[in-house]
This record gives sequence, structure tokens and C-alpha cells, in this order.
Amino acid sequence: HMMSQLSGMQQKEKKLADFFEIERCIIVSGNSDEDPKVLVEFGETVTDALNTLLPKGENIIAVMGGTTMAGVADNMHSWASEQQNNIFVPARGGLGEAMNIQADSVSGMMAARTGGRSRPLYVPERVSKETYASLLQEPSVQEVLALIDRATCVIHSIGRAMYMAERRGMSEEELDMLAANGAVGESFGYFFDADGEIVYKIPRIGLQLKDLKKVPFVLAVTGGKSKSQAIQSYMKHAPCQTWLITDEGAAEEILKGK
Ligand code: G3H
Repeated sequence: HMMSQLSGMQQKEKKLADFFEIERCIIVSGNSDEDPKVLVEFGETVTDALNTLLPKGENIIAVMGGTTMAGVADNMHSWASEQQNNIFVPARGGLGEAMNIQADSVSGMMAARTGGRSRPLYVPERVSKETYASLLQEPSVQEVLALIDRATCVIHSIGRAMYMAERRGMSEEELDMLAANGAVGESFGYFFDADGEIVYKIPRIGLQLKDLKKVPFVLAVTGGKSKSQAIQSYMKHAPCQTWLITDEGAAEEILKGK
């Protein structure tokens, strides 16, 4: 019988992929809550996955930010030369993160590590509505938005809702609202409750959650036992072509009692 030919880890990967109704799950050993080495493995796994999945030629890869994504970028390695025509772009406008973990920085780093190119999305966060509206008319901004719209691949992480809201400097009012609505998970600037319902969305240009369905390749990279609930809250929205790249810490906690 098929299952018995798979290793223990492969069985867990299959179980998790089936549970979330996604294409594939890869579980890296360790727990990233405690073990920074997991990020090295995430970087290698993402590089290999992209090498396997992406068609030859020019692919547009839209990426999100965060410490996991920055760690992935740092640990990517160079690709086969026929894969070096890729363009990395941030998937959405800035969400309030520190400079070094913003999507702009992550896409720049990924391009540098893999031999591709990147394009920043110049939309500052704290500007008036009028300035924001006129920035959107800028040809350089329009150009990057058009690239995002044609992305072949999206790479993103998933975070814990309240922690993310605080880290991004959201207001007391917003924090209270998120807590009152039972937000537990966050991805792409959307916040989800334990049932996966969207309870809030940070208004930003670029990729919206509903756009993910038409992206051929989606990698969700996220680990740590402490994120098990956050991961589950988002995964109800993960399109079926998603590959979840996670660690044992998160996987075991999610599979407990299943
Ligand atoms: O949207 C999810 C967050 O960007 C995850 O952030 O990788 O620092 O936990 P993190």
C-alpha cells in the first residue's frame, strides 16, 4: 500500500497537503521558533522548488516581506543559467515593516542571490491621500503594478496576527479591533480569525488575496510551533496550487489529533 512506502516525514507531508487541499507540502526538520538553521533550509528548499517549477525564460516572481522571507532570500543560491532571466517584484505596497525585511528589500536580495533582476515599488506609506493617488499615476509605479499582475509565481509567509499588527505599528484602535474580532493569523496584510474569515485588510496596492488563484505557482513559506494556529487560519484561502514549505515544529502541532 502506497502510504507504507513513504518515510515518516513524507507521510506527514502528504497528510498536511491533503488536509489543506493543496498541491504539496515540504517539511524541513527543526522548529524555527528556536532554531535559526531552519531558515537556511527554507532558502535551499525554495531555490530548488523554483528551479523545478518555473518554466524556462523570463518569469515574474512577486514576493512578500517579513523575517522568514528575508531569511529565505539570504539563503537562496544561484540558479542554472537558463533560469537567470527572472524578475523579482514586491507583491504589495509597504505594510509598515522595518526596511531590511520589506518586500522591496526581499525582492532585491533574491535577485542578487539568484542572478535575476528586481524592480522596486516606490509607494511610501505615510503620505496624504492626494499624494498617494498621484503616485499611483506615475509610470514607474504603473509598470511594476503591471508586472505584479502578470506574476508567474508568488512567494509569501504567514504571521501571527497580534504580533504582526504590533510589529507594524498599527494603532491602539486597530489592535483592539483585531483582538475583538479574534484575529489569529496574517498574510499579505489580511488578518484572519480561527475560522479563516477575513477580519481586516490593510489597504495597499498590488496583489490582492483573490488574485492568487490565477498565479500558476504559489509558495507559502512559514514555520515554528507558535505559528500553527496562524498557518491554519490562512490556509483556508490558499489556492490549490500552493506548495507549503514549513518545519516540523509547525507541522506536528497542526497534525496533533488529526
Ligand atoms: O505576513 C506574514 C509575515 O510577514 C510573517 O513575518 O516571517 O517575520 O514571521 P515573519
